[in-house]
Amino acid sequence: MIELADVRDAREVVAGVARHTPLEYSYSLSDLSGASIHPKFEIFQRTGSFKIRGATNRIASLSPDEQAAGVVTASAGNHAQGVALAATRTNVDSVVVMPEHAPIAKASATESYGARVVLHGEDYDEAQARAHEIEREEGRTYVHAFDDPLVMAGQGTIGLEIVDDLPEVDTVVVPIGGGGLISGIATAVKGIDSDVRVVGVQAEGASSVAESLEKGSVHTLDGVDTIADGIATRRVGERTFSVIEERVDEVVTVSDPEIAVAITTLLERSKALVEGAGAVPMAAVLAGAFDYKKDEVIVPALCGGNIDLNMLRTVVMRGLVESGRYLRLRTTLKDQPGSLDHLIGIIAGQRANIYAIKHDRTSRDIGMTATEVELDLETRGREHVAALIDELEANGYAVDVLV
Ligand SMILES: Cc1ncc(COP(=O)(O)O)c(C=O)c1O
Repeated sequence: MIELADVRDAREVVAGVARHTPLEYSYSLSDLSGASIHPKFEIFQRTGSFKIRGATNRIASLSPDEQAAGVVTASAGNHAQGVALAATRTNVDSVVVMPEHAPIAKASATESYGARVVLHGEDYDEAQARAHEIEREEGRTYVHAFDDPLVMAGQGTIGLEIVDDLPEVDTVVVPIGGGGLISGIATAVKGIDSDVRVVGVQAEGASSVAESLEKGSVHTLDGVDTIADGIATRRVGERTFSVIEERVDEVVTVSDPEIAVAITTLLERSKALVEGAGAVPMAAVLAGAFDYKKDEVIVPALCGGNIDLNMLRTVVMRGLVESGRYLRLRTTLKDQPGSLDHLIGIIAGQRANIYAIKHDRTSRDIGMTATEVELDLETRGREHVAALIDELEANGYAVDVLV
């Protein structure tokens, strides 16, 4: 079990390498939620996530001989970059094993921070097995991504910064993958003020902790499925699970659509680019996944911003659809001059903006005297979508909502 003193020690070690990231009141997120929201912008950490904190604390603890032999880890995500830069900043050689199909952008970012990247295996488990072989063959130290007291203590330095910058905090909301981050943060904030509530958030498709808490012991999921790749973990750590059981007040889950809405809300309202794993705390607030009081002082820990641009494109589209800002619908018209104009007139009257339109007379699903029209529309929210569909139906159009 780690204690507050371990996190305080870690702070001294981490200070020269990791940034003290900003924590700022958000008018718009507070407005949206009814609480007093102060996001912790850990997305501005070096390497784009908190992982450098734990990795630095772990690597700094190595003996001179161990430092000389170097470190190894397996990761295709934020931990890879955290270990690479932490090692380079402390003059230690590092090897990071990634699955062969890992995105090139991630491999080259990790290399740019100074690690030797080895591509091996079909998935994370095979990469990890290779990393343990390298550990034995080259006498390197394996840096675990979460289930290590020094890693947890390093991540916990975020908790110290939160309480320093906002002593009146009521609730801290933290994502959970393997559990290292929340273990450290809960130890720090509860160690200073046991009244601060700590809420953990997982993706519905990777809810290993929720299931483990129910069973009373660590449970391994058969598979995971979520857009929040940073927390797509099948199994919480044994050590982290003990800390979570003791110090975390509540663990909730959020769905992928809720995560997508949180990412787009953070982009639009806070100008913050946050990856899925980093956005789950805000998703939990916005979706009401846990109860909070009006004006409760809440800190969602936005812990990473490394999102793949293709994923961002998908998420933005899905986020717009979920929040009623983008609508694709299909209807049929009589195939005669002026009928498209009539339809468009109704849409214009409702002040929806046409993004794309497809006018198809060849569809087999309609009569020979009809035309099928598919419209992509920019809309202003769910109420606007409902009003637009009502108006179309009132004018005799049968509407199929496609997305
Ligand atoms: C952005 C981000 N948030 C949260 C987490 C969860 O951290 P942990 O695995 O320590 O629970 C991760 C893990 O990689 C992450 O990358």
